[in-house]
Amino acid sequence: MTRLLTICIGLLALPLAAQQVPDWYNAGHERRIDSLLSIMTLEEKVGQMTLFTSDWDVTGPTIREGYQDDIKTGRLGAIFNAHTAGYNRDLQRMAVEDTRLGIPLLFGYDVIHGYRTIFPIPLGEAASWNAEAAEESARIAGRESAAAGLHWTFAPMVDIARDPRWGRVMEGAGEDVYLGKVMAEARVKGFQGDDLTDPLTILACAKHFAAYGAAQAGRDYHTVDISERVLRDIYLPPFRAALDAGVATFMTSFNELDGVPATGNKHLLTEILRDQWGFMGFVVTDYTSINEMIPHGVAADEAEAGLLAVQAGVDMDMQGAVFYDHLAEQVESGEVAMSQVNEAVRRILRMKYALGLFDDPYRYSDTTRQSQNILTDANREAARRIARESFVLLKNDDNILPLSPGSGRILLTGQLADSQEDMLGAWHGDGRAADVITLLTGMEEAVGDGAQVNYVPDMQEAIRAARRADVIVVATGEDWEMSGEAASRADIGLPGEQEAMIRALAATGKPVVVVLFNGRPLAFPGVDSAATAILEAWFPGTEAGHALADVLFGDHNPGGRLPMTFPRSVGQVPIFYSMKNTGRPMDPNNKYTSKYLDESNDPLYPFGYGLSYTTFEYGAPSLEAGTMTRNDTARVTVEVSNTGSVDGTTVVQLYVQDVVGSVTRPVRELKAFRRVALAAGEGQTVTLELTEDDLSFYRRDMTYGSEPGKFMIYVGGDARTSNSISLTLE
Ligand code: GLC
Repeated sequence: MTRLLTICIGLLALPLAAQQVPDWYNAGHERRIDSLLSIMTLEEKVGQMTLFTSDWDVTGPTIREGYQDDIKTGRLGAIFNAHTAGYNRDLQRMAVEDTRLGIPLLFGYDVIHGYRTIFPIPLGEAASWNAEAAEESARIAGRESAAAGLHWTFAPMVDIARDPRWGRVMEGAGEDVYLGKVMAEARVKGFQGDDLTDPLTILACAKHFAAYGAAQAGRDYHTVDISERVLRDIYLPPFRAALDAGVATFMTSFNELDGVPATGNKHLLTEILRDQWGFMGFVVTDYTSINEMIPHGVAADEAEAGLLAVQAGVDMDMQGAVFYDHLAEQVESGEVAMSQVNEAVRRILRMKYALGLFDDPYRYSDTTRQSQNILTDANREAARRIARESFVLLKNDDNILPLSPGSGRILLTGQLADSQEDMLGAWHGDGRAADVITLLTGMEEAVGDGAQVNYVPDMQEAIRAARRADVIVVATGEDWEMSGEAASRADIGLPGEQEAMIRALAATGKPVVVVLFNGRPLAFPGVDSAATAILEAWFPGTEAGHALADVLFGDHNPGGRLPMTFPRSVGQVPIFYSMKNTGRPMDPNNKYTSKYLDESNDPLYPFGYGLSYTTFEYGAPSLEAGTMTRNDTARVTVEVSNTGSVDGTTVVQLYVQDVVGSVTRPVRELKAFRRVALAAGEGQTVTLELTEDDLSFYRRDMTYGSEPGKFMIYVGGDARTSNSISLTLE
């Protein structure tokens, strides 16, 4: 059966015009800010530019004493790591009732993939390729955060990441620019909604601005040295997508960029973000990143670092106390213009007005609403559903999966099978291990009387128990603390003896199903050959076990696709699909071409890859017209069929190659995709659109735009597809 279904994908254009005025901007508030600024003392203004952590969570290297006194004296305008409606109400009362002007506090927190109901880590959520799901999880996280007294999350992290040694790949959307833009937009809209005066919405924060993910050697906080072209073509677009989605704040990154730390980088924070993009929210630094310009070697002392930061365009100092200690004096000495301080304070007050905090400073401190909105059954159901969609089926020989819930002896092993805390992943906010459903619990609840789950965590015992099993399920991978911030790994294999364990289990001759828990792509070629099936589960969150049982026992057909390339070995890193062709592309028959002596150029699993319990076939792509002008929209149509016996969802991916450019261009780049649900035997005709902006880039002269000529269009189920057609831009 074929239904003609024209699905037009409006592609995220990247207009280089300034940001349209965001919907939270209110000219009426500006007049109230004018009045407030006119009566604020310089010390009170510096207070608004200061952010300190409470002592409830530690997310960085320093903790200050006495922040409550600073609130009461008006020297502190924002707090992070403080949460729950009651505690934040107490702190807010100090600001509103004990200070001269009663300016409300702003409460921030790292709500990265859930506040108390924890969703898959963002890299896992990106593997769903489901923007609606990403928006939904951010909306639920935002509602729970707001109910817990929070106004602001330090998310989404939108750093493009192409080096799996870097622990923070878990926090973003992976290697691809287009998927990164889609996820950035979705998450900002989820957190902020379409009305910031709604007390169940919070400010979002696009971080870490910029190119933090390009840290050399994948080592956190390391040097970033990339061209302006790579910055503009690869690392900035997700930030621009966040800005176009109305993001209220940006956070500077720890790294230097072309020799200048981002926190003191006027090109980045003012010329690009303000002058070219027209950003109207405020910029906060990362944790003591102003102070860190001293070890970076661009400031001799904190005063000089503070000067660099404020003159570059920083509005708020996170935890550094540099503005707190030096800014007033620098204004009084004339080193810093009062107008610069006023502009920073205006941007900060603008967001407090946008949240309605001046109308009611306690509108986020409702303990009744807190109890009604946190860890609800509906939130858990959403977490289970979204976790299911994050899983990627990497291998399924002999169709060993799905398992039957009604028959068979299942041996479950691996320490992670019964670990609640590890399922939460890094940056799990107020998520609690006790809330988590483990893989063991999920499987035990799912099987009927005719089947049994025998959990044997010890490897030697498991090998003995294998004799009495029909199938072995191995929970393997990383502990949750092996990824996230300050968690880079030089070896991205399976930790410890897990690979040996899997090989030993496979040697028993019983089928082995590997369930992988990890915060980054891992290199596990040995496991790949030993395992019968591999399910990539990332860190699935609070509902891990239920979601995994749904997939392992076939209640849900997995449809996830890899948002990052999985290497064969760490020696290939960085390895990503949109590489350049080079002048000597790999030729196995020619020594003098780009390759290794001891490793393939190919990844273990490519970007966009994922299997299903069914199979899909793609017809040849066709074009409405083989040529297009700059003002046209090209429509690429392809027939997709579910040729198996199970309903399933595939992700139709469209890649573009600019064959000849004024500069070298990647061998292909994702420019559109569409998730398509197909019943067994069903076919659909899917049409994806391309505009001139999708063919544009920073050209030889660093202007942004397209160039006429030939383009190859690839349409298929992952980045390796050869299913192609050519298009000419006139
Ligand atoms: C950390 C992280 C940043 C986080 C901040 C506050 O160092 O780099 O992503 O939002 O500090 O916890």
